[in-house]
Amino acid sequence: MRNNRIGIKLGSVIITVFLIVLLFLGFAIDKMFTNFYTAEMRKETEEIASHFTVMANATDVTSEQTMMTFAEFSNVSIFNILDNGTVNLHSGVHDSADRSFIRSSDLDKIFGGKIVSLMYKDPEGHRYFVSGQPVTKGGVITSALYVMASTEQMEQSLSGVRNLLVLSGMGAFLLAMGITWIIAQVLSRPLLQMQKATRKIAVGELETRLEITSRDELGSLAEAINDLAADLQHYRDSRQELFSNISHDLRTPITYLEGYSRVVKDHLYETEEEKDRYLDIIYQEAVRLQHLVDDVFDLAKMEEGKISLLEEELNLSDLTEQAVQKVKLKAKEKGLALSFESSGPVTLVRGDGKRMEQIVLNLLENAIRYTEKGSIQAGLQYAGSSVILSVEDTGIGIPEEDLPYIFERFYRVEKSRARQFGGTGLGLSIVKKLAELQGGKIKVTSRLGGGTRFEVYFQRQPDPGGHSK
Ligand SMILES: Nc1ncnc2c1ncn2[C@@H]1O[C@H](COP(=O)(O)OP(=O)(O)OP(=O)(O)O)[C@@H](O)[C@H]1O
Ligand SMILES: [Mg+2]
Repeated sequence: MRNNRIGIKLGSVIITVFLIVLLFLGFAIDKMFTNFYTAEMRKETEEIASHFTVMANATDVTSEQTMMTFAEFSNVSIFNILDNGTVNLHSGVHDSADRSFIRSSDLDKIFGGKIVSLMYKDPEGHRYFVSGQPVTKGGVITSALYVMASTEQMEQSLSGVRNLLVLSGMGAFLLAMGITWIIAQVLSRPLLQMQKATRKIAVGELETRLEITSRDELGSLAEAINDLAADLQHYRDSRQELFSNISHDLRTPITYLEGYSRVVKDHLYETEEEKDRYLDIIYQEAVRLQHLVDDVFDLAKMEEGKISLLEEELNLSDLTEQAVQKVKLKAKEKGLALSFESSGPVTLVRGDGKRMEQIVLNLLENAIRYTEKGSIQAGLQYAGSSVILSVEDTGIGIPEEDLPYIFERFYRVEKSRARQFGGTGLGLSIVKKLAELQGGKIKVTSRLGGGTRFEVYFQRQPDPGGHSK
């Protein structure tokens, strides 16, 4: 019952409106028929009465006889009243003793030459139309002729009409009930389905989907619920994946830390040099762990939208040059040439200095990490309203099929690369998010074995003074 509330509400509104309309309509039709029959009957009675007055003009016995026959034939009663109040002629079914319908005021009118019409109900409850008309002879009104017609037949016809009205009203009402019930079902069924589905989704059954294909508001609501479930499902899956990736990547350095620290603690080394080497590994792994924790933390903050940027006007040329200086030693150790070039008039870009440096450093570190021999070129190009920051290397490159995924967190081209180069696959996803947060866009072009080029596009700060630095 509770589940079908909309149906019940809608149903009762429709039924109520329908009932009101039906009642008014029935009443109006009944009134119309009653008025019509009454008017017809009045006309008929008056016509019959005027025929009788013509007949009554002839005083001979035959005409009286004709009148009697005619009255019987027309199923009416007649009373002829002389001006002294005596009834000199009576015929018909009506009891001749009952004369209460004859009022002296009416008689006065009739003898004054007028016609009187009235409705009369006798003591037994029968109703009659009464028409009283003057009978003139030689220009003088000699008597008043009353004709009484019973309304019984008219009432029978009217009650027939009323029965028909009630029957058809009941039929229409039942039909309306049926249609309303169907509409209520059609409307409330998908709502109930959606209610069930959302409850399932709420308790974690995220594979739940609705199969409502209608193109109305209900259809788009169902579509929205399906989208919501899909989003939640994706969110849950990627969160699970994230947790398993994080725990996997934490486990590796922790195993090293555990193993080598035990070796040192239990004096399982032979020379001091060996001990130093182990301590160095412990140190490297601790640093790696620190990086990983920082990266995960950054990503989590960015995904929740909680990272706050300290925006200022930045000179990207200075910033990139300093970053290049920082990684110079690493490049030199691998025997790679590292250069920086800036072209076009330098303009300022709005952004967070520390985050911008993180972008450049990440790209430079990747370039050094994934290049065995050759050179790395960092560049800044000021063109039109945009500034393009680029880092290009002559390294191992990225296979084309991996390119769309390298900005996803924990994505590494080959798992073997990670072992060889020690990356966790978070760097580029952080770079992409940081660039987007500062209004930038990142693009990559690469050829396997031929090198890689990353480009980050930033919008140049509008220069109201028209001068550049
Ligand atoms: N310059 C490049 N040349 C070749 N491959 C690259 C280059 N930069 C990134 N890649 C590939 O893209 C993958 C993702 O890079 P990303 O910087 O996100 O992770 P990572 O360098 O492996 O680890 P992290 O940066 O988190 O320490 C890398 O594993 C690597 O295979
Ligand atoms: Mg990296």
